[in-house]
Formats: sequence, C-alpha cells, structure tokens
Amino acid sequence: MDAGTAEPLDIEEYEIGSPGHRQALARFFLDTHVEYNPDRIDWPVLQDTERARLLSLPFWQEAVSTEAATSGKVLAAAQLEPDALLRKAIELQGFEENRHARLLARLTAQYRIPIQTPPPYQPGNTESDFLFAGFGECFDSFFAFGLIAIASESGYFTPELIRIFEPVIQEEARHILFFVNWVKYRRSQLPWWQRPAFRARCAWLILKQVASRVKTAKDMAGGGDSQASNDNFTMSAHQNLGVDLTLHGLLGRCLAENERRMAPYDTRLLRPRLVPAIARFLHRVLPASI
Ligand SMILES: [Fe+2]
Ligand SMILES: [Fe+2]
Repeated sequence: MDAGTAEPLDIEEYEIGSPGHRQALARFFLDTHVEYNPDRIDWPVLQDTERARLLSLPFWQEAVSTEAATSGKVLAAAQLEPDALLRKAIELQGFEENRHARLLARLTAQYRIPIQTPPPYQPGNTESDFLFAGFGECFDSFFAFGLIAIASESGYFTPELIRIFEPVIQEEARHILFFVNWVKYRRSQLPWWQRPAFRARCAWLILKQVASRVKTAKDMAGGGDSQASNDNFTMSAHQNLGVDLTLHGLLGRCLAENERRMAPYDTRLLRPRLVPAIARFLHRVLPASI
C-alpha cells in the first residue's frame, strides 16, 4: 500500500487495554489490508548483473523458511484468540505471511535462486511461538525498512522489483504495529497475578531474539562458519550498494523509515518502542564512521 493513504479511525479516545483499544487495533489492521496476488506478478526481466546481485544475497532460504513458519505460527495463534474481531485480524495476518512466503517462492523460482521447500510448521507452545515470531518481526522489519530505502536509492534493486517488495514491507510495518498493541491488550486481559509471568515470558523471548541476532551479526562479520558468513553480506552490500553504508548511517535511515512507515496509522495506537530505542541509543553513541 501507499504509506500515506490510510484514513484515521473515527472512534473515541481510549485507554490501552480498553474495548476501544481492542476495536481500534482490529479495525486498523482489517481496514488497511491490500489485495494483491503473488501468482499474478509480472516479474521484470533482469540483466545478468542484476540477477547475480539477487543471487549473492545470503538470506533467501532464511526468508522463505521464516515467512512459512511465521504463517503457521500466526494461523495457529488465531485459533486461541477468544475475541472474534481480533481473531479475524490475526487470521488476516496469517494469510499475509503466507502470501509473503508464496511471493518469495515465486521470486526465487523466477530468478533461479536455489531454495529448499521449508518443512510444514509443527505447533509447539502456540502463544509463545506467536510471541517469539512477533518480537522477531519487530527486529527484522525495522532493519528491512532502512535497507529497502537504501537499496531503492542506490539502484541495487530495479524500480520494478522495489515496487513488488513495497507492499510486503508495509505489511510488516502493520504486523509489528498490530503485534505490540495486541501484546499490551492481551496482558491487560489477564488477571493481575498472571501479568508478571506474561511479562517475564515476553522478556525471555525478546532476549532469545537478541541473542540470535547477535549470533547472526557475528557470523556475517566472518566470525562463524554459516552460509551468511561465507557470503559476507555486509562487505558485498557495501560494495554493491555504492553508498557509504556505515552502521551509524544504517541506524539513522532505519529510524527515519520506521517513523515514515508508522505515520499513516491511528496515532492512538502504541508504536513499537524497544528496537527504535536501542537503535536511537546506538545512533547517538556510535561515531559516524562506524
Ligand atoms: Fe512476512
Ligand atoms: Fe509479518
């Protein structure tokens, strides 16, 4: 969708956790859904160098697997949701995640990027799986916002490909906005004595996501033996993007894009705060040369 077209919701002010919050949360999500069909995308013909750039990105397998798993987790979590309106919204998110997986499958087939079909989702602790996936999206989407903007301006991806990715990235903005509000709403519905355990579970899942990203960052910097480190994405991205992609610059861009992508939606909804706060702190303390 165009990040500037969503209408503000015409409902009264509300408190977080109130029926008004629940209604605004579900309505914002349901009303901003956009239609597109990944099976009907007109994929641009790429030059050999453009295709080689796509092929060199190390994350296709991870992206396909993550989208497929997230779709399974979200659809399973929808069945736990007692509220019909919120359940409808979560089911719609599951549909959108599945659409991301289908779009990536189409893309990788179109450009002959080798991908293994991920195994079907095996339900575990459904609510924890949903929470873990949601916190993961809060990290991944924040960085995707900045990277896609940089890739667009530098010509790293052709404008036609950027146009295809655009609704996917904006959907991730909607997903994390929905998620952080759902977490607050869900916690508010618990009896007071269950809330500390819920908070602790969330904190633990966030820490697990942080640990997993620190490991990925180390691998990408060459400290591990994963596929990511072999491809050394940070190095090749720096060269191919043709811009001075410092961590400081990337964080600044991600912060600005995060604001822009969240701006169209009901301002009374809570915004994702943790990842932008970490990024803002690092942006302030890191020298611009890093
Ligand atoms: Fe997704
Ligand atoms: Fe998502």
